[in-house]
Amino acid sequence: MAIKKVGVVGCGIMGGGIAQVCAQSGYEVTISEINDDLLNKGMKVIKGNLAKSVEKGKLSKEEEAAIVGRLKGTTKIEDFGDRDLVIEAAVENMGLKKKIFADLDRVCAPGAIMATNTSCLCVTEIAMATKRPDKVLGMHFFNPVPVMKLLEIVTTIVSSQETFNTAKSFGQSLGKVVVIAKDTPAFIANRIAVPMFIEAMKVYEEGLATKEDIDNAMVYGYNHPMGPLALADLVGLDTLLYVYDSMYQEFKDPKWAPPLLLKRMVTAGHLGRKSGKGFYDYTKK
Ligand code: 3HC
Repeated sequence: MAIKKVGVVGCGIMGGGIAQVCAQSGYEVTISEINDDLLNKGMKVIKGNLAKSVEKGKLSKEEEAAIVGRLKGTTKIEDFGDRDLVIEAAVENMGLKKKIFADLDRVCAPGAIMATNTSCLCVTEIAMATKRPDKVLGMHFFNPVPVMKLLEIVTTIVSSQETFNTAKSFGQSLGKVVVIAKDTPAFIANRIAVPMFIEAMKVYEEGLATKEDIDNAMVYGYNHPMGPLALADLVGLDTLLYVYDSMYQEFKDPKWAPPLLLKRMVTAGHLGRKSGKGFYDYTKK
């Protein structure tokens, strides 16, 4: 099955990035949010990214207009009725995701594929909220989506080979490097990266080094583009807490327990760049 029309549920950091990349790759995209304010905010970020590319000479004005023309915002799930593929990028909450998939199942055409961008939740459980679990899989993008080349496609014991083949071709058409992961907690990349984030937070929590030195150690010692604490702020501390909590719940191994400091920061609303404060302060230029 060839994908032509794409839907994206959620116009936050990840959903907006996914919609932007799909529209840039020539797909017609419908993107939804729960209200007009969040939709307008998300669309503004996408348009701002495209405008920056025009300023840098990476896109022409005509290309920018064509990309924007392929993007349509909505607050109604019914508008996904004609989509060939819908990618869900809502917050990491199993109850919410199951409701979204049940609703999509009701409105989407029988052949449509549905994917979740979850970083950590069980894809099989999400698939079973629909009457088409063979057409459900994970498509896990990385932040910032327009820049990061990786796409993890998460298959389940109930997803079909045909669904996988279509998702893989689609991912490659976006210019992504596709890796195949089984439906296990945090898949491949996060499973390997999470221990590093947790240790970085513990080293900071225990007062063993400053945040700058922790980040510099990984930037200059391992050539990472940014240190783990700065990256945690970029990804969002609430998102990381969901990831660690769900890994801890699944494995029941203290190795995956979220650091206390992370919990306290999220409780205090220190979510990283998106709230203006995380390990670093983003309120001052
Ligand atoms: N959206 C779109 N484009 C962006 C962007 C954003 N949010 N942030 C940066 N860019 C673009 C810039 O426009 C620039 O594009 P250009 O090369 O065409 O001019 C390019 O990226 C480089 O940006 P900058 O020059 O501003 O800054 P840096 O060179 O420092 O790069 C970075 C910024 C791309 C964020 C880089 O530091 C990086 O790669 N960091 C690591 C990111 C990472 O590891 N992501 C994975 C997170 S884990 C995850 O997402 C999984 C989830 O499940 C938790």
